[in-house]
Amino acid sequence: MSAVLDTEMPSVRPDGLEPIETASVDELRALQLERLKKSLRHAYDHMEPYRLKCEALGVHPDDLHQLSDLSKFPFTTKQDFREHYPFGMFAVPMDRVSRIHASSGTTGKPVVVGYTARDIDTWANLVARTLRAAGARRGDKVHVAYGYGLFTGGLGSHYGAERLGCTVIPMSGGQTEKQVQMICDFDPDLIMVTPSYLLNIADAMERKGIDPATLSLRAAVVGAEPWTESMRQEINRRMDLRALDTYGLSEIIGPGVAQECIETEDGPTLWEDHFYPEVIDPETGEVLPEGAEGELVLTCLTKEALPTMRYRTRDLTRLLPGTARTMRRLGKVMARSDDMLIIRGVNVFPSQIEEQLLMVPQLAPHFLIEVTRQGSLDQVKVRVEPRAPGDAASAGAQLAGLVKTFIGISIQVEVLEPGQVPRSEGKAVRVVDRRPKV
Ligand code: DLL
Repeated sequence: MSAVLDTEMPSVRPDGLEPIETASVDELRALQLERLKKSLRHAYDHMEPYRLKCEALGVHPDDLHQLSDLSKFPFTTKQDFREHYPFGMFAVPMDRVSRIHASSGTTGKPVVVGYTARDIDTWANLVARTLRAAGARRGDKVHVAYGYGLFTGGLGSHYGAERLGCTVIPMSGGQTEKQVQMICDFDPDLIMVTPSYLLNIADAMERKGIDPATLSLRAAVVGAEPWTESMRQEINRRMDLRALDTYGLSEIIGPGVAQECIETEDGPTLWEDHFYPEVIDPETGEVLPEGAEGELVLTCLTKEALPTMRYRTRDLTRLLPGTARTMRRLGKVMARSDDMLIIRGVNVFPSQIEEQLLMVPQLAPHFLIEVTRQGSLDQVKVRVEPRAPGDAASAGAQLAGLVKTFIGISIQVEVLEPGQVPRSEGKAVRVVDRRPKV
């Protein structure tokens, strides 16, 4: 098979940008169309489950004349990956697959993804671009605290940082005390980590009497889970750095799909020359007008092993016009439709609870939501902890009041001792749903 795409090491101008990042919208759309035609054809010819879906819908790659024609083509869902577990979605023979990653998810079989050597190369370039957008430069030290292994976060970040010419500290997740020591001793310029784990590391520093604000870190490339603006302020204030949002997912490539630019800090810019976005109504599947909030659907334009077409991410967001780059931005991904809790008929996302929690100064930014059912009524208990011992008599009631006023549900707040809410070493688990499954 010929290479799907021309993904050489992109040339970078002295201002640190690749020409495509500031090309005209017309140039970008022309490149997307050219790449989409090839990628769709590649998926149709080599990813059998997708071809069968196209045939069932009566569509063929020849029907794609303009970008908007993509809406006629079938979606790919997590279910497709599960049904064709482990390698049935791959569009190249196994002897061309040089790496496997997998994301466990909450239920069922893991989603397995594969990369050719060229895909790994494309990915490294995209993460290098991601890091540049966060202000990293050749020679910077980058501490990677995303997990290494099957999760795409660690190795994906690692290859990108190396590609940019940085010194990588491949710490992975966990061993929090050691993370603290490495950061204190090695003076990294940037850290790549989930927001919940970054706060956990900051706590560990403070417990040791180290003020995180005095350390070398100047920016954090933070993502892999939803986090709020209030959480950003908390991180920036306590650690005296710039926390920038980074978005990605395994089915598309891993990290390196979208990155918030340091000069504008206004939501992640989507690397649209490699991933074509649509936003759909999650109920009807219809493509929504630009700017409307809905479910993000992404299509790979340059992947060989896994040219995922129209992937339903389940992430709720909207597309915003480009600012620092020609490419469009994502509104902050605050929620996955899968994470939505329906509490006595009210839709609640864990990030909404986080937002209210951070309004209460005495409470630490760690929480766990437990949902149970008594009779036919849903009960919600939110476990929190005070920032300082014995400092929380009224804080729990204050949180319950805010949640009632701004979200519209009654909750019980249990204020534990400091350090008792389970800590994240990667993606935080925010919800334990103990309601009987129907
Ligand atoms: O989390 C890839 C990644 C690694 C992204 C490191 C960023 C940094 P998955 O494990 O497949 O891949 O999980 C993807 O995580 O669909 C979102 O629901 C969520 N997610 C990722 N980034 C963000 C973000 C990696 N910045 C799923 N904000 C996605 C909110 C995010 N949610």
